[in-house]
Amino acid sequence: MTEAGVNGARMPSVSAPEPFIQVKSLNYLYPDGTHALKEINLDIPQGVLIALIGQNGSGKTTLSKCLNGLLKPTSGDVIVDGLNSKETSIVQMVRRVGYVFQNPDHQLFNASCYDEIAYGPRNILLPEDEVHERVIEAAKVVGLPEAYFGEHPFFLSKGMRQRVAIASILALRPRVIIVDEPTTGQDARQSYEIMDFLRGLKETLGHTIIIITHDMPIVAAYAERVVVLGRGQIMADGTPAQVFAQADVLRETFLEPPQITQLAQRARNLGFDPGTLTVSHMLEQYRRLAGEPAD
Ligand SMILES: Nc1ncnc2c1ncn2[C@@H]1O[C@H](COP(=O)(O)OP(=O)(O)OP(=O)(O)O)[C@@H](O)[C@H]1O
Ligand SMILES: [Mg+2]
Repeated sequence: MTEAGVNGARMPSVSAPEPFIQVKSLNYLYPDGTHALKEINLDIPQGVLIALIGQNGSGKTTLSKCLNGLLKPTSGDVIVDGLNSKETSIVQMVRRVGYVFQNPDHQLFNASCYDEIAYGPRNILLPEDEVHERVIEAAKVVGLPEAYFGEHPFFLSKGMRQRVAIASILALRPRVIIVDEPTTGQDARQSYEIMDFLRGLKETLGHTIIIITHDMPIVAAYAERVVVLGRGQIMADGTPAQVFAQADVLRETFLEPPQITQLAQRARNLGFDPGTLTVSHMLEQYRRLAGEPAD
């Protein structure tokens, strides 16, 4: 980034660091010719919680796999922490960007929780004492008690299995964690627990969290930024309030804003903010509009 210096000269800015991930004109074609990503441009800084949304087949998983180097661009570039994914080994990439699979059962394949979490660090050939240190650290972050270390992941609840899956990614200490459908198959309480946990990771350790989700109330409640994919292209990119206000884009991508946002948009002529995302925000406005005193 630049800013105007003396005599109008463009001076490099010292206040804006390079984004941690830069995606430039990314195209990805599968071997069968499916053009899954088309001219994607995206900057992702550190320490934000981003929701990546879009209908089935829009390219969310393909983009995630390009971000962590599992897939290399057909054309264009993915630059992570200054490294171009085309010239960087998968090991170097996954140490920077972790990807938690849509279904933890597709990721967990070791016979004990300990071995599962240790798998990544062992795979990058860390000495066993450091592997141990990382397993303890990651288990602590996700709240997995050591008593579970000898358990087979298969026998844990889905929520606990997901924590093991996240711990196995954290053990590689990536700065960015992509979680594919973190709340699918969970009840409302579990969904909010997982999201609180992911937001906590961002707040305490400064991670960038990218969630892929179809759950719009979760997007409204947690995301600071929303990126909408449609047929392999970016259709919108902004705050939840900005994105949910773009009715035409949402219609085109078959996405619906949360019901509370739809209600606020219909009631905008009564004074409600069309960017209302949560019930508590709606209630706050209602009280103000009705002249009720705040609690
Ligand atoms: N291995 C593959 N070979 C060929 N085409 C593929 C492959 N994987 C995905 N695709 C196609 O690429 C496009 C993008 O798929 P992708 O899985 O990235 O979408 P998605 O947004 O993650 O979908 P979902 O919400 O269903 O998980 C789709 O047209 C899909 O059919
Ligand atoms: Mg997917």
